[in-house]
Amino acid sequence: MKVQVLFTIPETAGVDVAGATVAVVDVLRATSTMVTALARGARAVFPSASTEDALRLAQSLGREDTLLCGERRGLRIQGYDLGNSPLEYTREVVEGRRLIMNTTNGTRAILVMEDADAVLALAFLNLGAVASEVRERERLICLCAGREDAFALEDAVCAGLLLQRLRAEGVELDPDDGARAALALAQAHEPNEAFLASTLAGRALLASELGADLAWCARVDALAVVPVLRDRMLVPLSEPEA
Ligand code: MLT
Repeated sequence: MKVQVLFTIPETAGVDVAGATVAVVDVLRATSTMVTALARGARAVFPSASTEDALRLAQSLGREDTLLCGERRGLRIQGYDLGNSPLEYTREVVEGRRLIMNTTNGTRAILVMEDADAVLALAFLNLGAVASEVRERERLICLCAGREDAFALEDAVCAGLLLQRLRAEGVELDPDDGARAALALAQAHEPNEAFLASTLAGRALLASELGADLAWCARVDALAVVPVLRDRMLVPLSEPEA
């Protein structure tokens, strides 16, 4: 399998995504929240590039069973139903609902890759499920959402862990330099709460009293849902779990 790791969204410029499966990763917190929402029974997550697009979409879908979700500087956008904390996405709140989500980096990263053969959302939470899903693909790109076009260590480590997992399952990898770097980073860091708390994004969450999200986002393999982009919305590949 040819594998490429892009550490920031600007690196996607000029990358040919035809024939590729893309795993978009934003551990803190967009993809962790998407995985959680779909595992808790949300019908679909519509990634949106701006608050204007999100409001337009909410109007056309109708507000009855639709929730507006997302953050700016980590906090819920004014007038939105939910922020970007996975802990807000309980079954009571999201089951059967359509979620329109607009975040600083994660939703943007998904939308820039929409021409790929397949776009999946990856987090520590669904690492094993994504590995099983992509293991037969010929070409894999991991796109790290990063932080405002800059490198984010937790995303790179998650991409590296996915590649490590594929190797451990006997998949032969043909990694580019980015993928080799991600593998080395995954070797150097344990994916746990303390690691997440040490990153820049983790420290920002702690400073905003959102530290409880770190323990949730650190739960490797806790959920088996693989969100996949279909008709501009993320839907679960497998059935939601309890
Ligand atoms: C994002 O998409 O930028 C993030 O997930 C930010 C956050 O809410 O932690």
